[in-house]
Amino acid sequence: MNLKQTAVLTALLLCLGTTTAQAAGHWRRNTARQAVKELGSNLKKALKQAMKEGGPAKAIAVCNEKALLIADKISLERGWRVGRTSLKYRNPANAPDAWERSVLLQFAKRRAIGENPAGMEFSEVVKKNGRLAFRYMKAIPTAPICLKCHGSHIAPAIEKEIRKLYPDDLATGFKLNDIRGAFTITEPISTP
Ligand code: HEC
Repeated sequence: MNLKQTAVLTALLLCLGTTTAQAAGHWRRNTARQAVKELGSNLKKALKQAMKEGGPAKAIAVCNEKALLIADKISLERGWRVGRTSLKYRNPANAPDAWERSVLLQFAKRRAIGENPAGMEFSEVVKKNGRLAFRYMKAIPTAPICLKCHGSHIAPAIEKEIRKLYPDDLATGFKLNDIRGAFTITEPISTP
């Protein structure tokens, strides 16, 4: 093979490599989007149902236990870590790690310059504990129903229950369409 042929072949391989990587990236982002959509709508449905049936006390259990169950189910099915996080979290177990924190700060900046939180997302391939992982986050806007437990005027009975379960709660004082937090997905990338 002469020099020119080698160059062409190298360029071709590089291109192929890039497109394959890009295709994998698109695929990962789309499946992550789909999972988050599923999680979000399941959660909202469960919240509305619980509010109707048992009032906010029952709904607290939904946001608390059901969210975990739904996220765990997706995690188990796909081998991902799926969760929710926030700069102002209610449960310390949902506190962001360094990468999540930087993305949440980036979302806050984007919101400050007028971007709509619905549809706000970010993804990146990162090295975590020496292994490659695809990480994805999608902002969660504050809807009217969320204000009952995350707003500025929370009914005393709910407030009491929340304070009992989460003495260090940071997740109140949100306004409509504020970024309440984000869904977060970590998908390990297996390398040959
Ligand atoms: C009935 C009360 C209630 C309602 C309504 C409610 N939440 Fe929550 N939310 C909670 C509780 C309790 C937790 C803590 C869950 C846990 O222990 O993981 C929580 C946690 C969260 C978290 C995880 C981060 C954190 O703060 O720990 C997010 C994100 C969140 N809620 C978003 C929402 C959104 C968005 C809505 C509206 C669609 C909503 N919540 C409605 C009670 C509620």
